[in-house]
Amino acid sequence: MSFVDSMNFLIDIDKIIIVMSGKGGVGKSLIASSLTIGLALRGYSVAILDADIHGPSIPWIMGVEEKHMTVDSDGFIIPIEIENIAIISIELLLTNKDMPLIWRGPLKTRAILELLSKTRIGKRDYLIIDMPPGTGDEPLTIAQHLKNRIKGAILVTTPGDLVKHIVTKAEAFLKELNIPLLGIVVNMAYFKCPICNTIHRLFGLANIEHTNIIAEIPIDPTLAQIVNSGKLFDYLKGDDSTAKLLLKIADSIISIDANK
Ligand SMILES: Nc1ncnc2c1ncn2[C@@H]1O[C@H](COP(=O)(O)OP(=O)(O)OP(=O)(O)O)[C@@H](O)[C@H]1O
Ligand SMILES: [Mg+2]
Repeated sequence: MSFVDSMNFLIDIDKIIIVMSGKGGVGKSLIASSLTIGLALRGYSVAILDADIHGPSIPWIMGVEEKHMTVDSDGFIIPIEIENIAIISIELLLTNKDMPLIWRGPLKTRAILELLSKTRIGKRDYLIIDMPPGTGDEPLTIAQHLKNRIKGAILVTTPGDLVKHIVTKAEAFLKELNIPLLGIVVNMAYFKCPICNTIHRLFGLANIEHTNIIAEIPIDPTLAQIVNSGKLFDYLKGDDSTAKLLLKIADSIISIDANK
């Protein structure tokens, strides 16, 4: 039994969903944040764990990068809370956010699991985990420790022939761990010309067969700006067409639950 199994710390969390990608830079953190905000906007109580130590972007995307998690008198960490969302990231414990954490693999995964076990997450309908990119040692160790509690995974990819085998690898990773694939999000799927509305599939078709694509998100310069300025919550509340596509991810997770 691992040290994580031996603790009852996730007892108050109803469903844990991991967001993973076959490789880095595909928009995983954006999708994890959008799923989290989408669930909160639908009335669920949600927590998001930033498990990507080297690219911890969740505090920035959620607009809380200036805040610091505190520690209570029992030594437990209090997450940052906005709009019914608990945000947990090692980044929010650092005094100097410009300094990289130079840790090796086992220390990093242990730090993430410890963070999870020592944080007062409270009662939540969902815990969304933004996994480290890829299918290497770090995501594997985290998933192995939590696998009995993970309800399923969302896989984020970009389109194109070249990424097809990366998706296949990620699917094999989940199969090996017996974690259900809840859906695939194809990010940067196309660019819609703002003048003539023509759709350009810059990286080709999604080209992913036999899989369950729950959303296709365009390359959207407004979205990039929103993410960089930490305004995703307000953006997803609005009327923008890309915002509506991003909310489809939370809706599809909710409907999977409703149909079970
Ligand atoms: N659909 C999109 N349209 C425009 N910009 C996007 C889109 N998706 C992601 N981006 C931008 O691309 C960058 C990378 O996104 P994000 O940080 O979510 O990727 P990631 O997969 O988590 O990366 P990493 O592997 O480094 O953690 C961000 O600056 C984000 O704003
Ligand atoms: Mg990321």
